[in-house]
Amino acid sequence: MAVTRFSVSLEKELLSELDQYVKDNNFANRSQGLRHLIEKHIVEKKWQCNNIVAGAIVMIYDHNKKDIVTKSNEIQHDNYGLILSSQHFHLSHDTCLEIIAVKGKAKELTDLSDKLISIKGIKHGKLIMSKAD
Ligand code: NI
Repeated sequence: MAVTRFSVSLEKELLSELDQYVKDNNFANRSQGLRHLIEKHIVEKKWQCNNIVAGAIVMIYDHNKKDIVTKSNEIQHDNYGLILSSQHFHLSHDTCLEIIAVKGKAKELTDLSDKLISIKGIKHGKLIMSKAD
């Protein structure tokens, strides 16, 4: 997988905490430590909650890329049980906004959202979840 470099600004104390974390866990460097922390946090967040939540998947894409619409439809039909409704707005000549209202286990919604948002060509994608009860 391609690696992107970016710079991070941290307070001194937080940086020394990171260095301590890197040392404690025998990571090769700060990047490896940070990567581990991010993955751990995101995976935990995804798996933590198995209760029923409701939310929306928001996607922006260029409808001229026909594969996106086909693929998105396929994924949505495969998961019809999680989808309450979807709304499509033609934002401009080329750009579409799609809002898909969803309800189900947080993990299932996260998986569905990951599948949709990772379709090649999707410009922006986001899942918003909220407690349903
Ligand atoms: Ni459109």
